[in-house]
Amino acid sequence: MSQPLTFLFLANYVKGRSFLEECRAQGVRTVLVSKVELKDKSWPDCIDEIFFVENLEQTDNLLNAVCYLARERNFDAVIPLDDYAVETAAFLREHMRIPGMGASTAHYFRDKLAMRMQAEEAGLQIPQFVHTLNDRKIAEYMERVPGPWFIKPRSEAGSVQIKKCYKPSEVWDWLEHLGDRRSHFLMEAYILGQVFHVDSIVFNDKVLFAAPHRYWRPPFDVWNGGGIFLSQTVPDFDQAYKPLLETNKACIKAMGLPYGVTHVEFIRHEETGELYFLELAGRVGGAHIDRLVDGEAGLDLWREWARVEIAQVQGKKYKVKRSHSYNGGILLCLSKQQAPELSFFSDQEVFWKMGEDYHAGVIVRSKDFDRVTDLMNRYRLKIEADILAVAPPTAKPA
Ligand SMILES: Nc1ncnc2c1ncn2[C@@H]1O[C@H](COP(=O)(O)OP(=O)(O)O)[C@@H](O)[C@H]1O
Ligand SMILES: [Mg+2]
Repeated sequence: MSQPLTFLFLANYVKGRSFLEECRAQGVRTVLVSKVELKDKSWPDCIDEIFFVENLEQTDNLLNAVCYLARERNFDAVIPLDDYAVETAAFLREHMRIPGMGASTAHYFRDKLAMRMQAEEAGLQIPQFVHTLNDRKIAEYMERVPGPWFIKPRSEAGSVQIKKCYKPSEVWDWLEHLGDRRSHFLMEAYILGQVFHVDSIVFNDKVLFAAPHRYWRPPFDVWNGGGIFLSQTVPDFDQAYKPLLETNKACIKAMGLPYGVTHVEFIRHEETGELYFLELAGRVGGAHIDRLVDGEAGLDLWREWARVEIAQVQGKKYKVKRSHSYNGGILLCLSKQQAPELSFFSDQEVFWKMGEDYHAGVIVRSKDFDRVTDLMNRYRLKIEADILAVAPPTAKPA
């Protein structure tokens, strides 16, 4: 009998339970490496072996630890469970010659500067940008491209570090403040418009499933100004629907991802309606987007990702089987109460609700798009009145 497959997981957070469960269900052995700080967290029981290292950033130490494990284990795939582990996973794959995304592709999924340059080369519309490296180029850029501008970190997920500047003097002050760190940033034109995300499953170089959604308010405004995070299905009759799906496909192709899951974001210019590429990630979207998609399509993106990876290693086919097609909407916020009271959210369209540790969330779904909009509006008002805590600027849902 052939050896069972073994997957190595890297995790900076506790997540991806259904990926790991699917591995167990399909007889794939799972070996997880995380950081010692998370030792006492509740890890899923289905993981075969867990090891802890000081942290996953010290790649020399990690490499030694993983290669030591590899003496007695044959790793067929390396899976990063969060964004921060994407490049580390690529580094380990390349060293051990394990198939999967290599380091240069991984950059396109982690480094906002690299993904912009790649998107630009592929002819995608992107906000005009400049690397905050060379003073002359930055000065020229500011003469050419009208403000306001966003200065953002290349590899951090976290709008909290984004600085909006209106005048060149503000830009220079901020760059001065960043000091040596400024080469890890980029600057780009602020595009006024609605922000969208498209979450996809890719196999055999094809986008087999893509769910487009619109954030009711740009995430930047929510993280910085506080308030409720809301996102809703873009229905097929919406003007943005087709362009979103087409541009999403073009993006994934441009970055060269043959299989996996993606989360891509776009801004739709308020006046021209053109879609601007904002960013993409090679992972399941955060902020409970996986549950939202599950409510709408009956697909658990973590589980599907596991199926994709297993099919890829086994050289087998993979098919997406969506079980239904609903419009959905999600509301998330920080709560004033540790365990917020959610009994108000009792309509039959409620698919999921969560009220734990000063967080609250509700997902609704219906065949009727307008019904979802109505419920979201009603729930939003209720949350604002009774639950919502005013968000400090650093607060961001996981
Ligand atoms: N060029 C831009 N124009 C307008 N808004 C932007 C721009 N870049 C970022 N934003 C806002 O900031 C948010 C976060 O930016 P993003 O590049 O997606 O970083 P991350 O999600 O990794 O923190 C976006 O969702 C959007 O609201
Ligand atoms: Mg983003």
